[in-house]
Amino acid sequence: MRMLREVQNTFQTELHAMYPKKEIDNFFFMLAEAYYGISRLKLALESDVKIENLEIILNALDLLKKGKPIQYILGETEFFGLLFKVNAHVLIPRPETEELVDWIIAAFKDQGSEFRVLDIGTGSGCIAVSLAKNLPKAKVYALDVSNKALKMAKQNAELNNVEVAFIEDNILNPCHTELVSASHKFDVIVSNPPYVRLQEKALMKGNVLNNEPHVALFVDDDDPLLFYKTICEFSKANLKENGKLFFEINEYLGHDMIDLLKDYNFKDIELKQDIFKKDRMIKGVFS
Ligand SMILES: C[S@@+](CC[C@H](N)C(=O)[O-])C[C@H]1O[C@@H](n2cnc3c(N)ncnc32)[C@H](O)[C@@H]1O
Repeated sequence: MRMLREVQNTFQTELHAMYPKKEIDNFFFMLAEAYYGISRLKLALESDVKIENLEIILNALDLLKKGKPIQYILGETEFFGLLFKVNAHVLIPRPETEELVDWIIAAFKDQGSEFRVLDIGTGSGCIAVSLAKNLPKAKVYALDVSNKALKMAKQNAELNNVEVAFIEDNILNPCHTELVSASHKFDVIVSNPPYVRLQEKALMKGNVLNNEPHVALFVDDDDPLLFYKTICEFSKANLKENGKLFFEINEYLGHDMIDLLKDYNFKDIELKQDIFKKDRMIKGVFS
């Protein structure tokens, strides 16, 4: 048996070169809660609390030292107030994506009749599941090329008690111009596709680069808007007239994205910044 407080000190000593003190404490408290059911408050009230099975938290410390994100160590994270399982096959949902979800919910919360939503590149399912949870009139579909990501997304739909129809497909595959028949076009298409150019790799943190799936992150330098162009093209056949297209975007390509949406005859185009004042999302209405 060892005092949990001592383990907290070990975390600080071993990780101080890699993370700020507050973040290390956050890691420690998340792990203490997940592995031993001991909350931050309990530890504050009973500072001499002891634990058995020390290896489990020391293993996690080892992984943190190797740069593994805490979300993958715990196997879960929170997104839009909901719990999501994550593993190495899915991107860890980001706070900026919560802002995109929020934007869509604000636009459709008063919708009185059923409407159809498609999330392209669903990964953990964070966008699709959050929309299904918060927009009861939405019939949500979610597509990904990765079978392993879809398995995780399905689990997340079950975990959060929502219905999402999952589709395994490659959006870049030119054969499927029409996913649905004309009578079943979508009212909303949303996507947070891979948008990091290979040239931006050098700017990225090692823990992202070495742990998160590259299929979820990267696009060729030669054609950084490849996914966006393909999805605009796809929208011509699969989005209803006046249907809305929402994208999360690369902060450096906001103006290129406006031009792209104009080229595809979208109207009411709106570019929106995230809380860090970076161009992060765009929407357009199909005409
Ligand atoms: C940036 S991640 C977004 C994941 C999730 N929607 C989110 O916001 O956290 C991009 C997703 O697109 C998927 N993807 C990559 N290439 C694809 C393709 N050609 N067709 C369909 N999905 C693709 C990846 O598997 C990954 O899950």
